[in-house]
Amino acid sequence: MSAPAEAPGLVLRNLSVAYDGTFAVRDVALDVPRGQRVALIGESGSGKTTVCMAAAGFLPRSATILADERSFEGVPIGATRQKTLIAPRVPGVVTIFQDAMSSLDPVATVGRQFRAVLAGVRRFSAAAARERAGELLRSVGLSDVDRVWGSTPQKLSGGMRQRVMIALALAAEPRLIIADEPTSALDASVARETMEVLSRLTAETGAALLIVSHDIALCSHYVDHLVVMRGGAVVDRLTPAELAAREPGSSYARGLLDAIPTLDNWNTTRLATIEQEAVHA
Ligand SMILES: Nc1ncnc2c1ncn2[C@@H]1O[C@H](COP(=O)(O)OP(=O)(O)O)[C@@H](O)[C@H]1O
Ligand SMILES: [Mg+2]
Repeated sequence: MSAPAEAPGLVLRNLSVAYDGTFAVRDVALDVPRGQRVALIGESGSGKTTVCMAAAGFLPRSATILADERSFEGVPIGATRQKTLIAPRVPGVVTIFQDAMSSLDPVATVGRQFRAVLAGVRRFSAAAARERAGELLRSVGLSDVDRVWGSTPQKLSGGMRQRVMIALALAAEPRLIIADEPTSALDASVARETMEVLSRLTAETGAALLIVSHDIALCSHYVDHLVVMRGGAVVDRLTPAELAAREPGSSYARGLLDAIPTLDNWNTTRLATIEQEAVHA
């Protein structure tokens, strides 16, 4: 049975993470309630991946993690020894990455990888596994299911691999998908399609989504909340509508948006630079 809408999803309270004694993330609070879509935004090095790893339960041994609370659906998130990246370490949570090749086994067929993920969900006969995988592959826009099923990831294009990874993540029937820059290796139109697929499927399955991106403009179309990180700390929280309503130059978050060239500003104004923005208090 699904939990009530107000059930806690991901809860991070006062999360700090240090690598070899140096703090990469400090006092971060983050909530991803059930069924909500939250984007974690920020420049490279701001600590986004570290927060995701802490949420997914797989930081390296060299990391020190401090938190008043780190839980999913009320259950503390601990470390596990599981090796595959796509399989849930925290029950109900799957993680997908920018580079599908780091999550997928490059030399095992897609079919074999589906059977492995589905076996962790419940007993599927070979035919039922094949059928379920077919549904999922079609739902992410891969129509040539037979070819994909029999292919190894290295035989597929980058965009196809990313879709396979999303379909595999969904095969685990997650209640939270953590997606760390899932589109940044893709060209713009494939990135938008991938965001659309993620957004539609999380809405259809009721899964929550924590998506990391440095593209605040793209994310704004697909999420309920934006959480902005800078230098290891959360510096802003806002909805896409609140972001759009802010005056250019009024905050760091707005600066990230205004630093992106658009058809409206590419030849009329100098693009805003991040440095000239005041950090929004
Ligand atoms: N495994 C690691 N060991 C040591 N330092 C790390 C490790 N991973 C990340 N860092 C450092 O932590 C900081 C935050 O990195 P990261 O979480 O990857 O940021 P982002 O995902 O926003 O680019 C950076 O200064 C980075 O160099
Ligand atoms: Mg990162």
